[in-house]
Amino acid sequence: MKPKVLLTHQLLPEALDFLAEHVDIEIGTSETYLPKDDLITKLKDKEGLLPLLTAPIDREVMDSAPKLKIIANCAAGYDNIDIDYARQKGIMVTNTPGVLTETTADLTWALILAVARRIPHADQFTRAKKYKGWKLDLFLGKEITGKSLGIIGMGRIGKAVALRAKAFQMNVLYTDPKKLNEEDQEKYRAVCVPVDELLSSADIVTIHTTLNAQTRHLISGDKLNLMKKDAILVNVARGPIVDEKALVEALAKRQIWAAGLDVYEREPEIEEALFSLDNVVLLPHIGSATYETRLKMAKKAAKNLIQGLSGQKPENLVV
Ligand code: DGY
Repeated sequence: MKPKVLLTHQLLPEALDFLAEHVDIEIGTSETYLPKDDLITKLKDKEGLLPLLTAPIDREVMDSAPKLKIIANCAAGYDNIDIDYARQKGIMVTNTPGVLTETTADLTWALILAVARRIPHADQFTRAKKYKGWKLDLFLGKEITGKSLGIIGMGRIGKAVALRAKAFQMNVLYTDPKKLNEEDQEKYRAVCVPVDELLSSADIVTIHTTLNAQTRHLISGDKLNLMKKDAILVNVARGPIVDEKALVEALAKRQIWAAGLDVYEREPEIEEALFSLDNVVLLPHIGSATYETRLKMAKKAAKNLIQGLSGQKPENLVV
């Protein structure tokens, strides 16, 4: 008999076909969120769980799943899962690193450029048939080339963002608990500095660190105060790394020039005031959203799940 697994959501067809060869699948919901009660009920007889990042997997969920052996998250981040408790219970947790690096770095740059050159605003203006002819001061943005880029979190995605910065002849600073070795420092042309120095000297600050107790509200009101008045802040990592209320204040008071956000502190809720600010570009958490990448993520999660259930060590074991 095939092991029973719960997918909180539908996967892309190719990944589902691959999984179906090995396991007996139940799909939690076709809605964006699977209610916790349903998750708990459906998980009772399951050995494996493949959740999206929208499904919080806490103690209560794990305690109500006596047969659960593995949680194969379909995301690189795994802050939706109580990792310590999973470790304590001997439940494996896996993620999908690597396959979304380039896509997320591309989106980071799309967002940087969109903010700096005010692309969404210019598009809305043009669609509203307001373009009446070329003007010297129409939609003036910020120059990127030759400026200073500050990367918070120099993991895979931070590095891929740094490589792209070479095309813009930027001076790259980064902050990360792990310093790059000399070879990588040369490769990425990046200098390690303390976070305060990065914030006070970068023209563009972009966040790529994981969310954990140390990074929650890392970008507080005080830290935003350190940034240059004409700086841009971009967050494509996790919302709670930035104090969203403090960011609203900094944007409204023009303490910083603008921001680009792909993630939010209380997703899918977004601070109401952000909607009316004209110096922020808002995206719906689409950092890795290309068909190719999402399929790779789903297949990787599926492979991890099958490996874990068949007694092998999953390739992307977190705990
Ligand atoms: C992740 O994988 O953690 C992203 O946020 C979604 O691609």
